[in-house]
Amino acid sequence: MSPGRFITFEGIDGSGKSTQARLLAASLDTQGVDVLLTREPGGSPGAEEIRRLLVEGAPERWSPETEILLFTAARRDHLEKTILPALASGKTVISDRFADSTRVYQGAARGALRTLVDTLHDAVIAREPDLTFVIDMDPGAALRRGLARKSGEDRFEDMGESFQEKLRAGFKDLVAAQPDRCHLIDGARAPDDVARSVADIVRAQA
Ligand code: ADP
Ligand code: TYD
Repeated sequence: MSPGRFITFEGIDGSGKSTQARLLAASLDTQGVDVLLTREPGGSPGAEEIRRLLVEGAPERWSPETEILLFTAARRDHLEKTILPALASGKTVISDRFADSTRVYQGAARGALRTLVDTLHDAVIAREPDLTFVIDMDPGAALRRGLARKSGEDRFEDMGESFQEKLRAGFKDLVAAQPDRCHLIDGARAPDDVARSVADIVRAQA
């Protein structure tokens, strides 16, 4: 059996990643593709436990260095227990966030720690998606969308709009650095229009 494709969605909080990951999974499913939809931080029982430590509580609860260790630990478990077995069985895996989030949130926006992020990634993750969509969105509008949800998981949203501006720039830099894998998608449109742009690229790269 040939391994499945690994597709990720990235972007600032409230940009519409989860919505687009769901829409792509549903669309591929109706085409008969065997799809696994997953998310980070989380996606395996152990990683979901680590998620709670990360997304709840005061913004200063963890330093950026500690966050890198926790996100990477969660990712390793997610990769071992969920992503790699699914890809090996031929499933297309769609993940709402993956390693690019650590590169941008911890590696660029919260501190200049990109070297530590890359060293840990190379040592214990060493896997890139086949295709990544960065949903681009004005931080003010995205923040209003995200906070309107009142999920109780707003530790990063609570860091404010200027932090989200840094993140947006970080994601754009990432797309510019890896244009073959990463695609910048305008998220300030109706969900179905955004989904069509995504589906066109998925089809073109099949
Ligand atoms: P993220 O996963 O990036 O945080 P979500 O997909 O959860 O974003 O969307 C955040 C909020 O915005 C949700 O309430 C969702 O229903 C809404 N939303 C998502 N996409 C759009 C869109 N294209 N236009 C308007 N609202 C949207
Ligand atoms: P998520 O649930 O995707 O939040 P949202 O739906 O609001 O976008 O992720 C939770 C938070 O964790 C989010 O603010 C981004 C942050 N995060 C990092 O800082 N580094 C990482 O490596 C990952 C995966 C997420």
